[in-house]
Formats: sequence, C-alpha cells, structure tokens
Amino acid sequence: SAMDSPALISAVKELFEEALAAVVPAGIPTQLAMVAPTDQKNAQLGDYQCNNAMALFGMCKKLGADNPFKSPRAVAEAILAALPENELIKKTDIAGPGFINVTLNDSLLATTAARIVTDGVAWLAPTSRKGKKVIIDYSSPNVAKEMHVGHLRSTIIGESLARTYTFCGASVLALNHVGDWGTQFGMLIEHLNDQKAAGKATDDESVSDLTAFYKQAKARFDEEDEFKDRARKRVTTLQGGDKESLRMWQEICDVSRKEFSKVYDRLDVNRLEERGESFYNPFLPETVKELLSIGVAIESDGAVCVFPEGKGPDDENVAPLIVRKSDGGFGYATTDLASIRHRIDVEKGDELVYVTDVGQSLHFQGFFDAAKRAKWWDPEKTRVEHVGFGLVLGEDGKRFRTRSGDTVKLASLLDEAVSRCHDNISQRNEEAYGGKMSKDEVSEAARIMGYGACKYADLKNNRTSNYVFSYDRMLELKGNTAVYLLYAHARVAQILVKAGVADEAGMKVALESADGNIPLNMDKILEDGKAVVHITAPQERALALHIARLPEMLDDTLDGLNPHRICEYLYELANFYSSFYTECRVVGSDQQKSRLLLCESTARVMRKCLDLLGIEALYRL
Ligand code: ARG
Repeated sequence: SAMDSPALISAVKELFEEALAAVVPAGIPTQLAMVAPTDQKNAQLGDYQCNNAMALFGMCKKLGADNPFKSPRAVAEAILAALPENELIKKTDIAGPGFINVTLNDSLLATTAARIVTDGVAWLAPTSRKGKKVIIDYSSPNVAKEMHVGHLRSTIIGESLARTYTFCGASVLALNHVGDWGTQFGMLIEHLNDQKAAGKATDDESVSDLTAFYKQAKARFDEEDEFKDRARKRVTTLQGGDKESLRMWQEICDVSRKEFSKVYDRLDVNRLEERGESFYNPFLPETVKELLSIGVAIESDGAVCVFPEGKGPDDENVAPLIVRKSDGGFGYATTDLASIRHRIDVEKGDELVYVTDVGQSLHFQGFFDAAKRAKWWDPEKTRVEHVGFGLVLGEDGKRFRTRSGDTVKLASLLDEAVSRCHDNISQRNEEAYGGKMSKDEVSEAARIMGYGACKYADLKNNRTSNYVFSYDRMLELKGNTAVYLLYAHARVAQILVKAGVADEAGMKVALESADGNIPLNMDKILEDGKAVVHITAPQERALALHIARLPEMLDDTLDGLNPHRICEYLYELANFYSSFYTECRVVGSDQQKSRLLLCESTARVMRKCLDLLGIEALYRL
C-alpha cells in the first residue's frame, strides 16, 4: 500500500488525506488526495500540487445551506489549515481558483541524496511490492522455430520488469513459456528419425540448425504422403505418452534449449525458469471438463468453445476461444487457461504478467475473461496483465528483415551493434584520449555499449508503439540513447577520480562488484565523519529532488508496466546533472565535499536505473 512506501508523492498524499478527512463535511464521501508532480518547467511553483479543492467544492454545493464553503479557494484554505504538522513540506500556497502548490523541505532532499551514499541505493527502493509474489511470463520462444525480434523484445521488456519488481521488494518467478508442444512435433520426430537412420546425430549441423530442420520437415510433410502419414501417427503416439516418442521430443527440445540459452547468456538474462506449454498437459482435460460443466464453454461444430459473454455460435463476427478442437486436440488457449489457474492457485501469485506482442491481445483478453467467468481468477485479489508491445520496423518502415527478406538473426543484430561501437570507441580512444584505454578495455566497452544500445532502443519508447530499428539512431552521442547515458555516467565517475575520491584501480573493482560501486576514499567527502549535502543553488536542489523521486518513478513503472518510464527518468537525471555540473563548480569549490556526494549519489542512481534496464555501466570515456 502507499502507506509504507517511501515515495515522496505518497507521503504528500497521506498528509493531504489526513487534512481532507478533517475538512470533508458530513454527507460527502471520503476523498482520496489528488496529488501530482508539478512540471519542472514551472519549478518556481513548487514540487507537487494538490487539486482536490475544486472537485470537493462542486460536491459540497449539493449540500445547499449546509455547505460550509463559499468558494473552491475557501476549501483549499481549509485543507491547508488542517494539514498535519510535518517535516516534509516547507511551504504551500494557493493558486488560481484553488490549486495548492507544495514545496518540500530542502533538508529532506539533501538527506536523501546523502543517504544513498552511506546506506546504498537499495535504501531508496519503494516498498509497495514488499512480500508480493509476482509471476512474469516472458521471452517464451517456440521450439524448432526462429527466436525472432519479437522474442527479443519480450525478453528485454520482461527482464527489465523482473529486475524492477525484484528491486521493489517482490519475489519474482520468471517463467519461460516455451512453445514446446503441438502437432508439429509429429513431423519433427519422424524427420529426426530419418536423419538418424542416415547416420546424422543431433549435434550434426543439419539438425542443430533447427529452423532449417523445421523447413525440411515441413517440405516433406507437404510433399510426401508416406511421411505425412507417419507424422500424423507420431503425434498420436507422442500424445499418448509413448516413451520412445517422448525421448525424441525431448531431444529436439534440447537442441532448441541450447540455442536459446546462448541468447540468454549474451543478454545477461538468467533468472528465467523454463516452464513450457508441455508442463500444463496433465491439466488440460480437466480444464475443459470444468469449463463445460459450469457452462462457460459449449460444444459447437464438434469443438469446445468459449464465446464472449452473452454471445453464442449463432452470432456473427464473434471469434470464440477454442479450448478443444474437433479432433480432440488442445491448443494455445487451453494451455493458457491452465497456466493462469496454476499461477493463481498453486503458485499463489499476487500479480501475473504476460509479455508478448500486441498482436496477441485478443488471445489474452479471451482467456482472462474465461478465467474470470469460471471464477478461477478474482480481479479483486490478483492483478493479471497482458503487457503488449509493438513491432520492430526496418528503416523502410516495414517489418524488420534482412536485405534478402529473411528474419534477422538476433546474434547478428547484436554483433553488428558491438562492432559499430568498437569502431567508434577505438577512434575516440586514439583521437581524443591518446590511446589511454587498452585493447581489452575498448572491447569490453564496445560490448557494454552495443548491447546497451540495443536494449535501450527497445525500452525507451512507449512499449505499445512500433519502433524503427536504426543503428545510426541508437548510437547517437547526444539525445536519449544508451550511448549518451553511458558516457554521462562515465563522466560522473571520472570527476570522482579527478577529485582523488576514487582511483582508476577502483573502477576495475567496481566493474567486478555486484553493486557496481566504486570504492571511495570517504575522508574526502565526509564532514566530521558525516555525509552532508548542502543545497545552495537551484541546480543542486533540482538534482536532489529528482534523485529523491526515484521511488515514485518506480511505483509508476510497475503500476503501468512501462519500463520506458525508467528511461525517461534516467535521461532527465543526466540532464539535471549536466545543468548542475555546468552551474556549480565541484572540484576546488568550498562546497567540494557536498557536491562530490551529490555526484556519487547521482552515479549510483544512474547505475541502478541502467541495471533495471539490464544495462551494465561504463566508468571510463
Ligand atoms: N510462444 C508464444 C509465441 O512465440 C508466446 C507465449 C507467451 N506466453 C503465454 N503464456 N502465452 O508467440
């Protein structure tokens, strides 16, 4: 709940809710505080505003003679008079018809920035998800099919959500709902059998390139009647639990699994637990039986279907959810009905999240709705969300493909980004930095930057929109790119080196440590053994305020399941830092200690945001 979250906005809301409770006249319902951050272009107005007065006045009018207020402004005045004593708010004023502007105490912002250095950035994590179990279904590629850019998006977005939930106190179960079941396995097994008879093993290239293998099997299925026949029979024996068929199925899945894990290693995605479609097989007959018996599903043309509420087989333009095909087989929808039930009943998830392209929205709406009608899901108790995302487009505005029209292989996409970064970084290293970085360092930086750029490009836009994949754009030095942000972080880290608070050797330690923190010579930043930030300039205040807003940004990210909020925040942080650094001298000023603390605090928050996006930090330019 908002009560125990350290988010500033929640603390402000609580104060206003207390005031509202005292002000709302009898006969008017309890009011939730409407508090919003003030656009920082109007920083002079304050940090937050409370907008309850106007609406509340509107309600009070109905009281007629019993309305204690003459105007919305009078309501605002009453709210302010009832505001409990607190250490959070420095000043308030009423603007226009009754907007309440709130300015927070500088000392609170200063202490927050300082504590990040002494207590670690985890101290500032919001507590809204503490003790919650969150199940995130992401990546979820299909066996023997290409893992395409859509799966890359699912992996990157899902991973970022998993990291953010974890940081906010949730216990996360990350599930890889691999497409490892279905009728295609009949032909795959038969084809594998034939290959083996011809002396080929599973590590043979003709088998390990499963996409090609799938194409071959499909071609034979379409052309050879005898093969088609065998493939069909094989599906039945496999589904009947035949040991030998299951062993071959397992073998094919293993080949895919190896390919997938190469991608996960590269992307530093390592909390995913594989729980493929096949896991739910034992639950499918029961799932359909229950849906039929409670009347949520009906038989139609030999199939078992769930029609939208109030619709039936005689209605036009309705696409029912098919839970059992006329041949008796189960499909994607049945598996997902079993999955939602299992995740609620057995796994006891408080929040369930499914990450796929928006093209699957109807599927998710369909089985969410069926689960609700079957009373397997109570929306009051469990939050269930489909996190849909848009397409990745090529620079021609069409679906992202290679020149020859094939889908782009993930590995080659990442390799290309890294190689471009390598060129840029070595050039800068030679031209601007006199070759300060070693060969290894350049390669390491290129890897971090290349992967970072791909991930960031994927995360920075509102997820539901399509985005154009462009190396040139994602590698720009200025603007909202990973390259800009990685350099921004490196610049902050280098100031600490320049001031003698950190040394170059410390950078290596930081790279290898779990939290990425640079070991600091604390004597150079503590005053009488204490970390103290003094706010003396507006740029210092703006930076400290933004830092203190980390928790509310994270709550927002999870409420809307929008990792691009983290990108926005991080980009703004870099900009606030840059104004601070331009206006406030750090090294050599009488505020040196306080300002170095602000630098380190900024660096830590930057690093945490990068980490939540799945991006490693750079410490050198
Ligand atoms: N395998 C599916 C695909 O490639 C994605 C599965 C998503 N998860 C789920 N529970 N439906 O499109």
